[in-house]
Amino acid sequence: MATILDGKAHAEQMLAEVRAGVEARLAQGLRAPCLAVVLVGEDPASQVYVRGKVKACADTGIRSLEHKLPVDTDQARLEALIEQLNSDAGVDGILVQLPLPKGLDAKAALHRIAPAKDVDGFHPVNQGLLLEGLPGHRPCTPSAVMHMLKAYGVPLKGTRAVVLGRSEIVGKPMALLLLEEHATVTIAHSRTVDLPGLCREADLLVAAVGRPGLVEGSWIKPGAVVVDVGINRVEDVALGERIFAAEPRKLETLKTKGGVLCGDVRYGEALEVAGAITPVPGGVGPLTIAGLMQNTLRASQL
Ligand code: GUN
Repeated sequence: MATILDGKAHAEQMLAEVRAGVEARLAQGLRAPCLAVVLVGEDPASQVYVRGKVKACADTGIRSLEHKLPVDTDQARLEALIEQLNSDAGVDGILVQLPLPKGLDAKAALHRIAPAKDVDGFHPVNQGLLLEGLPGHRPCTPSAVMHMLKAYGVPLKGTRAVVLGRSEIVGKPMALLLLEEHATVTIAHSRTVDLPGLCREADLLVAAVGRPGLVEGSWIKPGAVVVDVGINRVEDVALGERIFAAEPRKLETLKTKGGVLCGDVRYGEALEVAGAITPVPGGVGPLTIAGLMQNTLRASQL
């Protein structure tokens, strides 16, 4: 039976460290760090994520400023707000919640954010600094996953790591951070030949593709460490019957509530094979927010 990597508990520990850092600033007579959160439109999932971020700010003593813009906001208006926040000395971090409504150019907006305030770590300057191994804001999810893997003493040096997914938010930066710790890293994706065979070679498997239950138990090397970044809502009972065969309680929830959250990995099957695994929910999700709080505190110290 796999060890559960308790992302929620680890995130609490990270948040406690941030809280201590904020208190140390206040004790020196400095102001609290300040995060500006920009939400365009009313996407329900984004509203939930933003609420979580604002609550984490309150819990750690970080000041948050919410900027809610209507769904029909144009690019110029969004970029003007970003410029205004860039030049506001009272704002340390700027986060533009993604995805943006159709018609807005997310990349162009993210490129407008001053790199020092880019607490998501999505600006090309921060991505370049990561590539070069120089200090800069690292994307929150991969950096918090690394923080947790180190805390659990997961061996990284020389380990064979497979990262499933090549997004700029998770897959690519995750691969670079693992490389920095001397892992031998392969990035796999939808065009990879023999995905199951490749995954079976991994001592560390990070799944970040947003495909519910893609990774089967038989894809996992016995004893491997599995990090499941996927957060997917499944409503299709036929799909649920396939991917939750080893998780009767999830299937029951799906049938009674009409939907259930799950990762990219078939958790019930993986538990029997893996050495350690993150659950969904309660694994990587809380870590992402903790990573954001860490970045915001760091931004206030620049
Ligand atoms: N939407 C989903 N994940 C993220 C994230 O990490 N940052 C932002 N800004 N938007 C997101």
